[in-house]
Amino acid sequence: MRLGSSRATGASPSCLTLSVLLLLHCRHVASTLGQKSALTVVENTEGGGGGVEEEEVTVDNDDEEGDLEVVHPTEEWQTLRPGQAVPAGSHVRLNLQTGQREVRLGEEQLKYWTQEHWEEEEIQSSVSPEELKQAMKKIKEDLNTASKDTDQQYRPLEELKRDMAQLDLLVETDVQIMKRLLEQLNSSSSTTEQKMSILLELEYLVHQVDNAQTLCSMGGLQLILQGLNSSDFRLQESSAFVLGSALSSNPVVQVKAVERGALQMLLTVLATTQPVRVKKKVLFAVASLLRHFPYAQRHFLSHGGLQVLSELFREDGGGVLRTRIVTMLYDMISEKELIFHAGLDPGLDASYEERLRQYAQVSLQGELLEKGWCNLVPQLLESTEHDYREKALRALLAMAPTCLEQYRSDSFLLDSLFSLRDQYQEMVQSEMILGEENYYFAEIVELIDALQVKIK
Ligand SMILES: *[C@@H]1O[C@H](CO)[C@@H](O)[C@H](O)[C@H]1NC(C)=O
Ligand SMILES: *[C@@H]1O[C@H](CO)[C@@H](O)[C@H](O)[C@H]1NC(C)=O
Repeated sequence: MRLGSSRATGASPSCLTLSVLLLLHCRHVASTLGQKSALTVVENTEGGGGGVEEEEVTVDNDDEEGDLEVVHPTEEWQTLRPGQAVPAGSHVRLNLQTGQREVRLGEEQLKYWTQEHWEEEEIQSSVSPEELKQAMKKIKEDLNTASKDTDQQYRPLEELKRDMAQLDLLVETDVQIMKRLLEQLNSSSSTTEQKMSILLELEYLVHQVDNAQTLCSMGGLQLILQGLNSSDFRLQESSAFVLGSALSSNPVVQVKAVERGALQMLLTVLATTQPVRVKKKVLFAVASLLRHFPYAQRHFLSHGGLQVLSELFREDGGGVLRTRIVTMLYDMISEKELIFHAGLDPGLDASYEERLRQYAQVSLQGELLEKGWCNLVPQLLESTEHDYREKALRALLAMAPTCLEQYRSDSFLLDSLFSLRDQYQEMVQSEMILGEENYYFAEIVELIDALQVKIK
C-alpha cells in the first residue's frame, strides 16, 4: 500500500489533516529520503503558505530496519541529514527555501508522548495509572479507527498493536491496585493519614460493581469493617464512606456485609460515636445496606435500628441528620409499597413471590408507629430549608396510612401545615420568583394540600 498523493504547495489555504499512525518506540522507521516514497504529503499553510511542504510519515512495507540512523524528533523542527530516518507519525516537511527536510513530533505524538515519555521507566514513575489508561484507551480507539480504513497487510500496525500489548503490562489493573492498597491498609507501618488516603482511593474504585465484589473476595471487607471499629474517628468516617459506596446497588456486597456483621457494627457506631461527620457517612452506609434488601431491613428493625435512629433524630438540631434519616425511612416505605403495588406478572418475574414474602416480613409501618415516628417526623418541618421540609412532607404522606390518628392530634403538625401552606402559596404567587423555583414551591403546596386532605 502506498500513499503518495502529492499536492501543489500553497495553492489552497485549507490545512489538511491526516489520520496519524502512532509510534511508541522507534523500531519502525521510514526513510524519509528514499526514492520509494511511502510518504503522504499534505500542504502546509504555516508561515503564509508556500515554501514549505509538509508530510506526515506513514510506514513503508519495504523499509529495512537496521541500516538507518534513526532521529528522535522533538517538539522543535530539526533538519534531517541524508540517510537519516524518522519514526512513523513524525511530522516531516520540506523547506523549499533551503531544500532541506525537517522533522518534529507529529500531532498525536506530541499529545501523548512528549519527550520524557520515551523511557519506559518514566512511564511508570511519572504518569499516573489512570492517565496512562486514558491515553491507552484513546490510542486504541484511534488504532481501531485506523485499522478499519487500512489494508490488513499493513504490518507496522500489527507491530504497533504488539507494542500496545507490552505497554498494557505496565498499566496496573484495578485488581492489582486494590491488592496493593489493601496490603498498605493492612500494614501496621501505615499512618492514619496514609490509611485515609488509601480508603479514599478505594472509595473511588468500588463504585464499579465488579471492583467492589473483588474487594470483598480479597478480604477487603474485613479490613474496612476493622476501620469502622477503629478508635480514630477519621478512620471510621473514611471506612464508612468506602463501605457505603461498595454497598450501593451491589447485592453481592450487601449480602457479604450482612454475613460479616456489618449491620450491627454500623448501628453500634451510630449509637456511640460523637462527630456528626462520622454519623453522616455511617448513615449513608446503613441506607446503602438496606436498600432493596428486605432481609437486612428486617434485621435492622429487630436489632433496634429505629431506636438508634430516633435518638439520633432527637439529638440533631441542625437538621442534616434528621433529613437523611427521614429520607431513608421514606425510601424504605416507598420501596415496599412499590413491590406490593407493582402489579407484576408473577410468571414474568420468578422471584416476585419470594420478594413479596420477604417484604411482608418487614413490619416497618408498625415499628414506626410504635417507636413514635409519627410525631418525630413532623419536627423536621421546623427547618428553614425548603429541601428538608419537602422531604418531611413526602415522608409524612408515605406514613399517613399508619399515622393518621397521631397526625390529627398533633397540633404542631396541623399549625405548621397551615402556616407553611400560606407561606408557599404566597411565594408561588409572587411575581418576583420565576421559573424552576416557582415550580418547586408549587409542588410543595401540592404536597401540603394532599396531606391536609388525608388528615381531614
Ligand atoms: C492482613 O494481615 C494479616 C496478618 O498480619 C493477614 O492474616 C490478613 O490476611 C491480611 N489481610 C489482608 C486483606 O491482606
Ligand atoms: C471492635 O473493637 C473492639 C475493641 O476495640 C473489639 O473488642 C471488637 O472485637 C471489635 N469488633 C470487630 C468486629 O472487629
